[in-house]
Amino acid sequence: MIQHNDYIDLLKNNILWAADKLKTDPHYFSELSSPQKPKFLFIGCSDSRIPLDVITGSEPGELFVHRNIANQVNLTDINLLSIIEYAVELLNIEHIIVLGHHKCGGVKAAVEGLPEEDIVENWISQITDIYHFHKKELEAIGDFSEMCDQLSEMNVIVQIKNLLRTPIIQRAFRKGRKVWVHGWMFDIKSGLINDLTLPLEEWKEYGLLPENY
Ligand code: CO
Repeated sequence: MIQHNDYIDLLKNNILWAADKLKTDPHYFSELSSPQKPKFLFIGCSDSRIPLDVITGSEPGELFVHRNIANQVNLTDINLLSIIEYAVELLNIEHIIVLGHHKCGGVKAAVEGLPEEDIVENWISQITDIYHFHKKELEAIGDFSEMCDQLSEMNVIVQIKNLLRTPIIQRAFRKGRKVWVHGWMFDIKSGLINDLTLPLEEWKEYGLLPENY
């Protein structure tokens, strides 16, 4: 039977949370009401198991966040592009982190396809391309789940490359602004984040990164 009242727990929890915050610090919400000054922009997957603030020990006000299925940086996504511009130009954020994760349903679907969900398939089609491009190397891994995890890592690298291609980031570099990009992979089995090595020299050769990066 559908428990249509399940959502009420969320509202009850909210009341408890607000009361608890006030108990520890009576000025908590008046301070939280001041303009935000987050230092990090996160681009992550919508997966419910990856709460970005929880896994990084961050508090409200510390992370500026965009999430979509399989952490895509799509160059025609006006939602994401406006978030990047807002982060870089208005919030002066210097660190942009693309966070992928192991056991990603979006990445798995990009390999296996989906029975009915054409729109999701369309959204993750770039991962399907990455898979086909690296098919030999990926299939040599043998284990399907491990192969998808490796593909997830490749996906993060490609999405950072897309991020560097945006006019927003290129404009920031031209102005001599400091913007650092990071690719992280969250391992659900251990709860730990792996800070991926990025092909920075290759990206400098492409002209995507300034020489002094
Ligand atoms: Co995911």
